[in-house]
Amino acid sequence: MSQGRFITFEGGEGAGKSTQVRLLADALGKMGIPVVVTREPGGSTGAEQIRRLLVEGDPGRWDSMTEALLHFAARRDHVVRTVWPALAEGRWVLCDRFADSTLAYQGYGHGLPQHSIEQLYDMTLGMFAPHLTVILDLPVETGLRRAGDRADTENRYERMGTSFHQKLRHGFLEIARHHPDRCVVVAADAPVETVARDILRAVDQRLLARGR
Ligand code: TMP
Repeated sequence: MSQGRFITFEGGEGAGKSTQVRLLADALGKMGIPVVVTREPGGSTGAEQIRRLLVEGDPGRWDSMTEALLHFAARRDHVVRTVWPALAEGRWVLCDRFADSTLAYQGYGHGLPQHSIEQLYDMTLGMFAPHLTVILDLPVETGLRRAGDRADTENRYERMGTSFHQKLRHGFLEIARHHPDRCVVVAADAPVETVARDILRAVDQRLLARGR
């Protein structure tokens, strides 16, 4: 059985992650690769319940440490119940957000020290990490405008203000700079098909070509 791969998609609000996850899943499916699409916070029954606590309600309802603990509680459940079993079956798991979002949002955005987030990561996931992380980058104003056009109640983070979102963008680019082997930054203010082509090229170069 072929080995599964774990690919995560990261970026600020309105970057088009969900669309790109779907397009990559379609492309890999056409190649005969078994794919599972999932998301964070969420992706398992328990983690979807925790998601409600995180994405709805007053922007200030949690302090940054409590919020990080909730994200890691959801993540542990998601990884144990969904991600690891799928990888063990040889599937490729495409995940809309993962731990880099905690570092960007709760760390760079809300000021929680990076070492605290790393400790939580070690405790809950150990050495487990994505094989590839696609960071979709676009100007904050463009992303917030796109996200604002969606009528949903899951807008707790969208309401956190432009300067918070500037810190996130900077945070994601810093994460990419520190982990060049794992991360690829893709410009997300291009047409959907261009972004999808760039992502597929990165997947091909970094994951598929190695097996050829
Ligand atoms: P989504 O809208 O992309 O599904 O993500 C839900 C929100 O949760 C989004 O605004 C980013 C936020 N988030 C964090 O703050 N920390 C995390 O660790 C994750 C996974 C998401």
